[in-house]
Amino acid sequence: MRIDIVTIFPEFFSVLDVSLLGKARVDGLLDLHVHDLRNWTTDRHRTVDDTPYGGGAGMVMKPEPWAEALSSVLREDGSSTLVVPTPAGTPFTQSIARSLAATSDHLVFACGRYEGIDARVFEWAASRCSVVELSLGDYVLNGGEVAAMAMIEAVGRLVPGVVGNPESLVEESHEDGLLEYPSYTKPASWRGIDVPDVLLSGHHARVAAWRHDQQVERTRRVRPDLLPDAERAE
Ligand code: ADE
Repeated sequence: MRIDIVTIFPEFFSVLDVSLLGKARVDGLLDLHVHDLRNWTTDRHRTVDDTPYGGGAGMVMKPEPWAEALSSVLREDGSSTLVVPTPAGTPFTQSIARSLAATSDHLVFACGRYEGIDARVFEWAASRCSVVELSLGDYVLNGGEVAAMAMIEAVGRLVPGVVGNPESLVEESHEDGLLEYPSYTKPASWRGIDVPDVLLSGHHARVAAWRHDQQVERTRRVRPDLLPDAERAE
């Protein structure tokens, strides 16, 4: 999968060289390119923002450098997906991560700052590729970079080969609509706290049933909104 990131802070993305995604880059599974939006400005000050029409606080990112940047990174055949991290977007979920990993082999992240990017950029881009506006959660970050990083990690680890043991992707939180069960390792007793007996029993069916109960209990307690209506009641 190829991923292009357009930002005014390319240095944010140096962490993509670390850990699993770093290895995936070296192995050629992820082809990541970070671009400085200011390279597509034409004035001496490399200006990327201006005051908002209609008034209001803050600045808006100018359309011209964005159009130049996107023209240069989007594929001509329309096969790219433009991802715009914004608190006004669709909530980003594991199922969106899965669908991006499965259906798109070229993602372009447009990281806005200030009060966002001139809205015409996305109207224009929609005629050249699919455009998705995605929110990391109901809070406001200073820009799209941190959100893009989270989305790239969530999607990137679903690309076949990036996570060494594909089985470990199956039992994770959110994969089956439930939160993950608690995990333990040796020693069996630590600081007076014991690992639940059932996990030492060697009885696979009982372990599986216990884990499922733990998933449902945790999901009901922490994230009842994830449960089907029938399972939500006590
Ligand atoms: N940019 C600023 N806040 C954001 C959020 N919550 N999600 C995605 N992009 C953002």
